[in-house]
Amino acid sequence: MSYKYHKQTHSHEETVELAKKLAAQLIPGDVLAMSGNLASGKTTFTQGLTAHFEITEYALSPTFTYINEYHGKQQDIVHIDAYRLSAGQELIDMGIWEYYESEAIVVIEWADIVAEAIPEDAIGMSFRALEDDENGREILIQSPRKLDL
Ligand SMILES: Nc1ncnc2c1ncn2[C@@H]1O[C@H](COP(=O)(O)OP(=O)(O)OP(=O)(O)O)[C@@H](O)[C@H]1O
Ligand SMILES: [Mg+2]
Repeated sequence: MSYKYHKQTHSHEETVELAKKLAAQLIPGDVLAMSGNLASGKTTFTQGLTAHFEITEYALSPTFTYINEYHGKQQDIVHIDAYRLSAGQELIDMGIWEYYESEAIVVIEWADIVAEAIPEDAIGMSFRALEDDENGREILIQSPRKLDL
């Protein structure tokens, strides 16, 4: 059983606002599994999440390492970019389950590459650029629990 939400945004800011709305409904331990092409908005969405949790560091796709930890006042966020990985086993080997078992919210970009390391109850997100609008993005959200989006 899962709940599906089909959203469209038409600017960077609108995607950030949508992320803040979702962030307000997340609970410690949630995992967000994001897929979608380059520049489809995954990191932009993550910046909206970190803004909601009053994390002052700017979320950038981790470059030299594929994992960043952000410590908010009330909530930690772990941001993983799996673009350069080749299989979920790499995340399992580095101990991803410790993050899953923690109270942190774990956000994974390119989750499709590491599919076997994604928990079944993750919130799935799929990002796609719209053909007819340079700043348009389709964002599909699939959640095991009901959300208000
Ligand atoms: N509606 C929109 N939503 C999100 N980003 C948008 C939108 N319109 C334009 N943009 C721009 O598109 C780019 C999205 O880049 P972003 O880094 O978020 O993508 P990404 O999916 O994380 O890519 P990558 O796979 O390379 O990490 C940004 O430059 C952002 O300003
Ligand atoms: Mg990114």
